[in-house]
Amino acid sequence: MGLPTQVSPPQVALSDVAPSSVTGVDVVAVPVLADPDGPLLGPGAAELLDELDEDLFALLEATSGTGEAGQVAERVVLDTEGLSNPDLRTVLLVGVGSGSPDDLRRAGAALARHTRGRLSVATSIGALCDDAGLRALVEGLVLGSFEFHWRSQGPQHRPVERVVLAGLVDSESRRDVVRRALAVAGAGWRSRSLALVPANLKTPEWMVEQASDVARSAGLDLTVWDEHQLAEQGFGGIVGVGQGSVHPPRLVRLGYRPGTRAKRSPHVVLVGKGITFDSGGLSIKSRDAMMSMKRDMTGAGVVLAVMGALADLDCPVRVTGLLPLAENSVGASSIRPGDVLRHYGGRTSEVTNTDAEGRLVLADAMAYAVAELKPDVIVDVATLTGAIKLALGQRTGGLFANDDRLAELLRTASLAAGEPLWRMPLVADYEERISSKVADADNAGGAPGAITAALFLQHFTGGLPWAHLDIASVGDSPVDEHEYTKGATGFGARALLHWLELREPLAGVSGRA
Ligand code: BES
Ligand code: MN
Ligand code: ZN
Repeated sequence: MGLPTQVSPPQVALSDVAPSSVTGVDVVAVPVLADPDGPLLGPGAAELLDELDEDLFALLEATSGTGEAGQVAERVVLDTEGLSNPDLRTVLLVGVGSGSPDDLRRAGAALARHTRGRLSVATSIGALCDDAGLRALVEGLVLGSFEFHWRSQGPQHRPVERVVLAGLVDSESRRDVVRRALAVAGAGWRSRSLALVPANLKTPEWMVEQASDVARSAGLDLTVWDEHQLAEQGFGGIVGVGQGSVHPPRLVRLGYRPGTRAKRSPHVVLVGKGITFDSGGLSIKSRDAMMSMKRDMTGAGVVLAVMGALADLDCPVRVTGLLPLAENSVGASSIRPGDVLRHYGGRTSEVTNTDAEGRLVLADAMAYAVAELKPDVIVDVATLTGAIKLALGQRTGGLFANDDRLAELLRTASLAAGEPLWRMPLVADYEERISSKVADADNAGGAPGAITAALFLQHFTGGLPWAHLDIASVGDSPVDEHEYTKGATGFGARALLHWLELREPLAGVSGRA
């Protein structure tokens, strides 16, 4: 029983003519800027007004359009006589706010929502974009089209098939900007899809299959550990968390090397929490809290999606992705509160709460990275704590780091990507809260929950530069809004790619030149 065929994102093309001159499209969309003196019709509008017998200003007024990012006003075209594009059926006025990247991302997503089910749209929104704006616009167009379904009769909505970015110079450099935007948006799409797959299909082994598909198409090295190899090699955290499930745990390692670089390039290890369902284990969750726990592998999905896009973005550093995969289930062989687990490399944890399972699997993967992979930087991504949601709400992810420069690089990339992260402190005074009477640490040290979880992980960094993204706050969107669709977000892939595509992603990290 597999998933039915899913929809694909729209095709994006560039054109230097005005949108009203693009033939064969049924929708034309023109931007409206929010100006302090009132809304302004943007590029492409003049040409459209010349051809159409329509008063677009009156349309704006009638819909109380202000140009706020994401507002859409629609006019059906009845008389197509004399138009250079006889296929034109609909004119849209799309608010682009101030024209900032964030506003353009929202405008792109609004346009995508408004043109679902249509064949093609030409828009001049791109004509007012600099490169960063164009990136954001395309990311919005793609992610606003997102749809996931498991319906017998096919998806509820289909994305517009083709978007023509009109009125901009169709140059090599602009095509490259669009190509990069599509790679990043495609990674966001993939991580969101993975997070949405129900856990009756999405077992650790199913995630391995996804990883091997990605590895094959992106040309990545792939290594997989099964439950026996994990046990033999001392991955006690992954084995312990996975042992209550009929679907045994796995560890996946994916490797990317930059193309033509002679000298040794720096090495980044990404670790993604891959709990394919988090019931809480014997410390079982309430039925409400369990509702969204198929998404508890979002970190692993993010890392997998990032790995798949590195080559498209010419990432200049070596990157290894580690996906510790397990189902946290209730069974006769589940770990019990009070059990002690021995992680890779020997450090031990007392499991005082089986629902604090994410850190147990991450710890093994991080210890493995430190001992075997000689990384320059480790970044882990995890839907780790409910506490981060209390702290930051559902639109900002938590960022912990033991290196200021790394924190700054990630924060800047997150803002450019529209996936904002906020730095949280690693308060050393709270260390005593994760101390245990019997083991090296207690896995559920208590409040403040997001910080004590991060402190637990910090012991597995071997002192290397490290950042921890707690995305439990943003793993789920409560509503369809901007580039987010209700439900799983796949948050983090875009932020990490905006970082890893920099020419020097590690510049200044722990004394690097
Ligand atoms: N997967 C959850 C965290 C989570 C909560 C993700 C809400 C998304 C939405 C994690 O494994 C968990 O259960 N954490 C516990 C830790 C506690 C037992 C120390 C939590 O945050 O309550
Ligand atoms: Mn849990
Ligand atoms: Zn969890």
